[in-house]
Amino acid sequence: MTSYEVVLERPGSPDHTLEVSKRETILEAARRDGVRLPADCLKGTCTTCVGRVVGVEGEDDGDDETTDSRPDAALAVDYRRPPQALAGHERADGYVLLCIALPRADCRIEAGPQVRAEVGDSPWR
Ligand code: FES
Repeated sequence: MTSYEVVLERPGSPDHTLEVSKRETILEAARRDGVRLPADCLKGTCTTCVGRVVGVEGEDDGDDETTDSRPDAALAVDYRRPPQALAGHERADGYVLLCIALPRADCRIEAGPQVRAEVGDSPWR
């Protein structure tokens, strides 16, 4: 079964590498590994589980002059259901809902209260 390496970056904790199958959400893999991440609705309608993609394997290889550009979250994850809690511009800025996000590539994702604060509350809650 295909799986991907997802590195979680959280403030105050060492980076944690998850092995996530393509049918498993990143939150499910984190819980299986004993990593505690905040979550509430588990269906993409709040922003409690939000993270931000900070790196995608294979994106912009060999082009070091684009360090200011944010990785394309669509290259890193697909969704089990529509991520209602995120606006299009938030998805374009790399934000992902870990409770419904299925990996599509090896990637690095930042999570924690500061990422949650950047996105704010969902209009669907
Ligand atoms: S826990 Fe609500 S969107 Fe993920």
